[in-house]
Amino acid sequence: MYSIPQLQQIIQKAMDDKQYPSHPKELYEPIAYLMALGGKRLRPALVLMATDLFGGDIYKAIKPALAIETFHNFTLMHDDIMDKAPLRRGKPTVHEKWSESVAILSGDVMFVEAFKLMIQVDVFILPQVLGVFNDTAVGVCEGQQIDMNFETARRVSVTDYVEMIRLKTAVLLGGALKIGALIGDASLSEADKLYDFGLNLGIAFQLQDDILDVYGDPKKFGKQVGGDILSNKKTFLLIKALELADEQTLQQLNGYLDSATISPSEKVMAVTAIYNKLNIKAIAQAEMMAYAEIGLKALSEIDAPDERKMILKEFASILVERDN
Ligand code: IPE
Ligand code: IPE
Ligand code: MG
Ligand code: MG
Ligand code: MG
Repeated sequence: MYSIPQLQQIIQKAMDDKQYPSHPKELYEPIAYLMALGGKRLRPALVLMATDLFGGDIYKAIKPALAIETFHNFTLMHDDIMDKAPLRRGKPTVHEKWSESVAILSGDVMFVEAFKLMIQVDVFILPQVLGVFNDTAVGVCEGQQIDMNFETARRVSVTDYVEMIRLKTAVLLGGALKIGALIGDASLSEADKLYDFGLNLGIAFQLQDDILDVYGDPKKFGKQVGGDILSNKKTFLLIKALELADEQTLQQLNGYLDSATISPSEKVMAVTAIYNKLNIKAIAQAEMMAYAEIGLKALSEIDAPDERKMILKEFASILVERDN
């Protein structure tokens, strides 16, 4: 059994050892840049934890864990183009530092690199693992498209929102855990329960991301605070505000969403003030905790020793309490 810091150290070492070609440098430098900026490395830790949960050899899970982290970073590189984000992990985004074309192509090669790492699993589980990875990758793309569609949609329901974040974010946490479980030789039914844990935890995770996008400390968050407000993202916070606002507040809020003249800082301030008035942060936190609880229930139903589940419970609390 390993502790979270031990697993993180193992992941860091594996990432430090990974080398990319040097030519053409515009293709590979952005990969090294983004991956070296850090990040919480949550998803590779999930892969290793899942393997360990079922008593598997975590060293067989390292390449797949790197595959998941590489895939995650690829999605971030492209997500930042789509979201017009200036900052990632406290530094300029790849499309800002280089160009959009560079970010597209570097992202593409990361996607391939992720598969090159993933196919190094034991050959007898390869078809299953690739099946999970493929479904995950398609899910993320579907979620990302729906997320963008929602920017211009007038009304989005909470149910539609949860489905969107299930796809864009949660399936990757679920997929990371399921792949780890398969490497740990878990049965399909136990691996699926762990997937369910990850899915619900992932929904909670994205809710916290939405909360931090408005209420995060700019010094710790590493991304532009208010970015979701500026692009009219239908986050849980905005959907709830649209739902709870009285007639006058609703008119104001729609006015800010539709305004082509309001300055970015004014828009963020004004929309945040409406969220505050409607107590949206607390409502979003309650929703997040509810999903974390559903996840923990799925975890409790898994046939594995309780002491081995402790690390996943601890991890769940870290995810919902994080400030970046
Ligand atoms: C950011 O993920 C993308 C979301 C799904 C919200 P993380 O918050 O895990 O990003 P890093 O890897 O730690 O930077
Ligand atoms: C992230 O959603 C989903 C993916 C990257 C697939 P966000 O757009 O909210 O992520 P951040 O906030 O930019 O990290
Ligand atoms: Mg996005
Ligand atoms: Mg984004
Ligand atoms: Mg976000």
